[in-house]
Amino acid sequence: MMSRAGLADALQGLLHCPVERDRPLSALSTLGVGGWAECYAEPTELEDFLVLRRFSHREGVPFHIVGGGSNVVFADGPIPGIVVSTRKWDAVWWMPAGERVVADVQSGHSLASLAGVAAKEGWTGLEFALGIPGTVGGAVAGNAGAGGRGMGDCLEEVFAIEPDGSLRRWRAGEFSCTYRRCSLASEGRLLLSCKIALRPGLRIEIEGNLERFRSLRGIQPHGVRSAGCSFKNPDGESAGRLLDRCGCKGMVSGDAVVSDSHANFILNRGRATAEDVLSLVRACRDRVLERTGILLEPEIKFLGMACALAPEEERGGPRLG
Ligand code: EPU
Repeated sequence: MMSRAGLADALQGLLHCPVERDRPLSALSTLGVGGWAECYAEPTELEDFLVLRRFSHREGVPFHIVGGGSNVVFADGPIPGIVVSTRKWDAVWWMPAGERVVADVQSGHSLASLAGVAAKEGWTGLEFALGIPGTVGGAVAGNAGAGGRGMGDCLEEVFAIEPDGSLRRWRAGEFSCTYRRCSLASEGRLLLSCKIALRPGLRIEIEGNLERFRSLRGIQPHGVRSAGCSFKNPDGESAGRLLDRCGCKGMVSGDAVVSDSHANFILNRGRATAEDVLSLVRACRDRVLERTGILLEPEIKFLGMACALAPEEERGGPRLG
């Protein structure tokens, strides 16, 4: 295994963008917790993304991709390998396509600002996304959505670097999007850009949609440090309602606390650590399992914490104490 200094030096010789060693990560997540990346880069060119992906594949170096950090908890300690941020890969081109318009957008672009521009320009289809934090790439990977709508409904094409370092264009129909899941999401696949198709909408229709999605977010906490919903909704139920009924509101682990307004939100009330968040997620999951028999699946991703909530552990039943 290459040393940390060796890794950064080797990469710096190959890239146009700077390679940072021991880069603190907490400010890159909306929850504001976590340690640092041993090796970190923010590419602005396709070639740099390719070099990074191919290098890690060839050398067997762990490879992590970070978008808007709105659904992620970084491990407290050093995160070995390479952490690549898409935040400077954020261009967008609006292209007329007959009656419709297609936004060809790089993965680091803010989803909410894309949705804002679309609504302002009179294009409908992305109103659900106006209140969703994070980048387009992260939203595609997790099929982000609200009120029954999701990214999959408007995706025409996704352009990606495959786990082996090759480039591939995936057209609609070649991949699938279901509730909070996209078949393209994989540890090693780097989503570079996508094409989002929208149609012209009446102002009254767009305003109505915006209002509907705004009201759906009613009791969600605002202006606080959180990573959005902690758990996915199980079939036919709301995770928030279940957690609430099981008395999870106000549960605490260190500086991580379950929101008093919406039980599916964990907040960082000060200096929460990734371990605090992980134990709170476990405690909430275990409590719901004990009381209802329903095993909630986390929606938050724990980066650099490989065994955080391993499937074996999830199958092991309730943890006590
Ligand atoms: N509820 C409670 N107590 C709570 C939380 C919710 O009783 O503590 C009740 C609500 O009053 C409501 C029902 O449960 O009657 C549903 O709750 P909510 O309105 O929050 O909707 P949801 O199904 O839990 C989903 C998404 C949100 C998205 C909203 C709005 C998931 C896990 N959550 O929440 O997405 O913003 O719908 O469309 O799919 C996210 O994924 O990060 C996220 C925030």
